[in-house]
Amino acid sequence: MSRPDRVILDEPDAAGALRRTATSHIGLRVPDVAGTAEFYGRVLGLVPQAELPGGGQRLGWGVGHHVVDLLPGPAGLDHIGFEVADPDGLAALEKRLRGAGHAVTELDPAHLDDALPVDGGQPRGLVCTDPDGNTVHFHTAVRRAGEHAADTGRRPIKYQHVTLSTADVPAMVAFYVGVVGFRISDQLADGRFAWLRSNRDHHTLALAGTGRSGGLDHYSYDLAEWEDFKSWCDRLTEQDVDVAWGPGRHGPGNNLFVFFDDPAGNHVELSAEMEKFHDDRVTYTPRRWDPVPTTINLWGGQLASWRRTSEGN
Ligand SMILES: [Fe+2]
Repeated sequence: MSRPDRVILDEPDAAGALRRTATSHIGLRVPDVAGTAEFYGRVLGLVPQAELPGGGQRLGWGVGHHVVDLLPGPAGLDHIGFEVADPDGLAALEKRLRGAGHAVTELDPAHLDDALPVDGGQPRGLVCTDPDGNTVHFHTAVRRAGEHAADTGRRPIKYQHVTLSTADVPAMVAFYVGVVGFRISDQLADGRFAWLRSNRDHHTLALAGTGRSGGLDHYSYDLAEWEDFKSWCDRLTEQDVDVAWGPGRHGPGNNLFVFFDDPAGNHVELSAEMEKFHDDRVTYTPRRWDPVPTTINLWGGQLASWRRTSEGN
């Protein structure tokens, strides 16, 4: 018998329409663009790719798509971006968004400098707003030559997932799963956290029910393997960056993690060994994990000061 505080998040309508969709970039508003850009260069190896109108900086890993846009302003999330590499994925997504009554606009072509032509056509992108008011970019394939560099000691491999802060996980799931086309990989049994996939990774997007509607909970870069964590923790320490949480291992996703903060206070995760979904045709029921600290951190349940679960802390 299910307990009254148990919430089952459904996979309605469009679930699974996206299977080759990955995070591509993130836009952060920060009070000190130059200082934050210097930090991202020194700590994560991201290099300037372009000056943005109004005093922003675009950062990437040299060859290929940009990863972080830093925009001047009070600290906050400006936008998140996803590369939709599914065949006809963007056109079908536009149809689903419009069909569900969501306003869709064209993405500024300046965002698509590093995008690849699709079937001989032009790179394209869409902008929409999720139920919490977050701005979301979806665009066609981008050049990813700057990722997957072998020198993992000095920079992560890639930007891998984003976790949004929300006061209404079911409404966000209804949008991202029911309309956009993610699938649910796992949830907390109280419905206050959901991990969503759009490719083989256990999650490219997660929804954290923090009670705060809109904005970032954290975002994450991939490291190659466990062995990298010690050199990264040493390197963060050398750079006077506190390892704020971890090392640990999450239950949902089974990924290793450490966290630190950027100068604007964004929680940045370094992660490895995320669970993979190699065959999406396999019957799989999203697991409903107990909302206790040891779910979020299997290694003893130590949590960051900003992380809460509804049972156990
Ligand atoms: Fe994460």
